[in-house]
Amino acid sequence: MPVRPLIAGNWKMHGLAAQLAEIEAISAFVQVRRPAADVLICVPATLISRAASIAGGRIAVGGEDCHAQASGAFTGDCSADMLKDAGATTVIVGHSERREYHGETDAMVAAKAGAARRSGVAAIICIGETQAQREAGNTLAACGRQIAGSLPADVAQSGSIAIAYEPLWAIGSGHVPVPAQIIEVHRHIRECLMDIAGASGADIRILYGGSVRSDNVQSILSLANVDGVLIGGASLLAADFDAVLRTLPVMVQEPSRADPPRSPR
Ligand code: PGA
Repeated sequence: MPVRPLIAGNWKMHGLAAQLAEIEAISAFVQVRRPAADVLICVPATLISRAASIAGGRIAVGGEDCHAQASGAFTGDCSADMLKDAGATTVIVGHSERREYHGETDAMVAAKAGAARRSGVAAIICIGETQAQREAGNTLAACGRQIAGSLPADVAQSGSIAIAYEPLWAIGSGHVPVPAQIIEVHRHIRECLMDIAGASGADIRILYGGSVRSDNVQSILSLANVDGVLIGGASLLAADFDAVLRTLPVMVQEPSRADPPRSPR
């Protein structure tokens, strides 16, 4: 399992040029603090290029959706190639808001994830049950179906995919599943991934998303099979996102050549 968690932000349809100051502030914080995590902010397509140049590699920048084709007569859409060209390393696909408001099916999400792979862009594939599915006891079945349908065909070769488990009732609501619920679903996702991808399913990151904040991120990241988080609201302001990052351990500094050798005590 990957050692470093992925701490990913999702700005959704928020952000104008003025908000790029938040990217600068988060990047500066990461550069100084060196949290032991991969840090990514997914922004609207209009901001990717500027966000990536401001971040300067201190944090990664991603997109929030891509088309399944590399190019073509698809007015208003962006391909994964275009996102990469603008500076994105990663793209979110199949977010529940895309599934709900744009009618995206598992097959469409799988096609988008496959397009991202072909473009060399990592894909974060979102899944999660509705409140009604949870109440009916169908959470694991619903998530299992979404995983089976939303992964690209050659997932074992994909390398660069992650799953984000985002229960719909937890997104933007302030309600977070209890630890046992997260553990149960993440374990099930891991089993599904290993069924589909074999041993390499153990290396696919499984993120939790839905009302993650600085006051709950540590306990969520401590759970089995939680390899990172996807954060909406608390990623919009550097003050909130940095507070999340501040809860993480920091990277051990390699002694530089300029450091004097320590004398034995
Ligand atoms: P939230 O959003 O952190 O605001 O709940 C998460 C998401 O939708 O990815």
